Amino acid sequence: MSITKAVIPAAGWGTRLLPVTKTQPKEMLPVGGKPLIQFAVEEAAEAGITDITIIISPNRQAIIDYFAPAPDLAAVLTRKNELGLLNDLARLEDLANLTYIIQEEPLGLGHAVALAHATIGDEPFAVILPDDLIDHHESGLRQMLPIFIEYRTSVIAVETVDAQATRKYGIIRPERVSERIYKVDELVEKPSPEAAPSTLGIVGRYLITPAIFEALARTTPDSRGEIQLTDALTVLLTQQDIYALELQGTRYDTGEPLGWLEAQVAYGLKHPEAGERFRHRLRRLI
Ligand code: UTP
Repeated sequence: MSITKAVIPAAGWGTRLLPVTKTQPKEMLPVGGKPLIQFAVEEAAEAGITDITIIISPNRQAIIDYFAPAPDLAAVLTRKNELGLLNDLARLEDLANLTYIIQEEPLGLGHAVALAHATIGDEPFAVILPDDLIDHHESGLRQMLPIFIEYRTSVIAVETVDAQATRKYGIIRPERVSERIYKVDELVEKPSPEAAPSTLGIVGRYLITPAIFEALARTTPDSRGEIQLTDALTVLLTQQDIYALELQGTRYDTGEPLGWLEAQVAYGLKHPEAGERFRHRLRRLI
């Protein structure tokens, strides 16, 4: 049961990052000079995924353009003998087979994933939320794949969240299997701290069996009219086991301004050439 397909939902409005997201999908925001969508596509490719469906919103061409050939720019770079840059651009076109599906209205993450049924078909697949950036030498997907292979069922990524922040996450009721691995007994979408069954919150990496599509079709929209992936996973849980892996590494929620800024600083400090100078300048600032 290998996984060769992934869905990257990138059709949200990114309202927490307005005004820049008025014209740019938040997935095009850079961290350390590279847009979030590229981190997601590279993570998938590096985990052996060859076919990626990106869900985009209407009239937002930036992501499509980003991975498409740019002959005019290539001609300029050739003239300037910028071979390194030319290689970087060519690499972008070869990372994976990309297919784009338009989500006409932002009707929720579950709705976005359901749109990919046509391209995913009857195979297990990965879902990567590009705004959750996970900084670790082994990517989120790479950490999860062995669990998927061992248990042959859906695996979701979790992390321990601040007890006061459970309202922002899908929270699991965990049954400990071994270090960092849990069997999921229940999923609760955005519970209050008092109602939360644990502080293990779902973060943006999933390996899911294709049964999710039927579960999504049976999932009713929430009070805001959105179809939530967590609610569909609750439906799926009535049919199959789901495991959760507590990821190693630091997660940055780049979908909110402070998380994005924090990621910028962290990746800036790691920069091989400019990192030390940046550290020095930061010290002066503080
Ligand atoms: P978020 O809830 O973080 O994205 O969705 P958002 O709605 O854009 O954020 P705010 O609250 O308005 O600031 C998580 C992921 O799911 C995608 C987003 O693009 C993001 O990658 N998404 C969300 C969709 O593709 N479609 C949707 O209808 C909702």
